[in-house]
Amino acid sequence: MASQFLVHFLFVFAVAISTVKCNREADALSALKNALVDPKGVLQSWDATLGDPCSWFHVTCNGDSKVTRLDLGNYGLQGSLVPQLGSLGNLQYLEIHSNQINGSIPVELGNLSNLLSLDLYKNQLSGSIPDSLGNLKALRFMRLNDNLLTGTVPESVKALKRGNLRILNVTNNHLSGSA
Ligand SMILES: *[C@@H]1O[C@H](CO)[C@@H](O)[C@H](O)[C@H]1NC(C)=O
Ligand SMILES: *[C@@H]1O[C@H](CO)[C@@H](O)[C@H](O)[C@H]1NC(C)=O
Ligand SMILES: *[C@@H]1O[C@H](CO)[C@@H](O)[C@H](O)[C@H]1NC(C)=O
Repeated sequence: MASQFLVHFLFVFAVAISTVKCNREADALSALKNALVDPKGVLQSWDATLGDPCSWFHVTCNGDSKVTRLDLGNYGLQGSLVPQLGSLGNLQYLEIHSNQINGSIPVELGNLSNLLSLDLYKNQLSGSIPDSLGNLKALRFMRLNDNLLTGTVPESVKALKRGNLRILNVTNNHLSGSA
């Protein structure tokens, strides 16, 4: 009887833990959805009551059910990016180009240490390019071209070109200095 109770308790405990683990990424994506205007309804499946983010459209996960890709290019999205994106620690591809996203680039994107491709080109992003993006040592492609960015390209970002960064495109912004 006591052992049956213990097994039941451990099961409930394990379910609770796995739910909390999943919720963190679901919460980050829900925060993004809430910050966006989605005229074509491409984020309709982004609903935690319909399953975890790995089952949502335009989201790709790895074998551990961690989000590795967001593919939201060219869907007419408006609104802004959210700091919570920085908690998607396994993200490799952040593809939100060719929309009408405004506001600034969250400094928290600098936490995405596995990111290979940061494609935010052809939006209406303003403000400066965060220094923290210089922490993205794995990054191969950083395309921020065709936005309204101001300031200069941080030295930390330019330094990435001596590592893995193959393409840094910041043309057609309001930047001063060189890249
Ligand atoms: C961004 O666009 C939304 C509507 O698409 C607007 O409500 C908001 O004020 C804009 N924000 C900025 C920072 O321009
Ligand atoms: C994410 O980045 C912000 C700003 O760069 C930092 O303050 C914060 O501690 C980071 N969070 C994590 C979980 O690494
Ligand atoms: C950089 O962006 C500009 C402006 O959109 C484009 O013409 C150019 O082909 C891009 N360069 C690379 C290397 O992607």
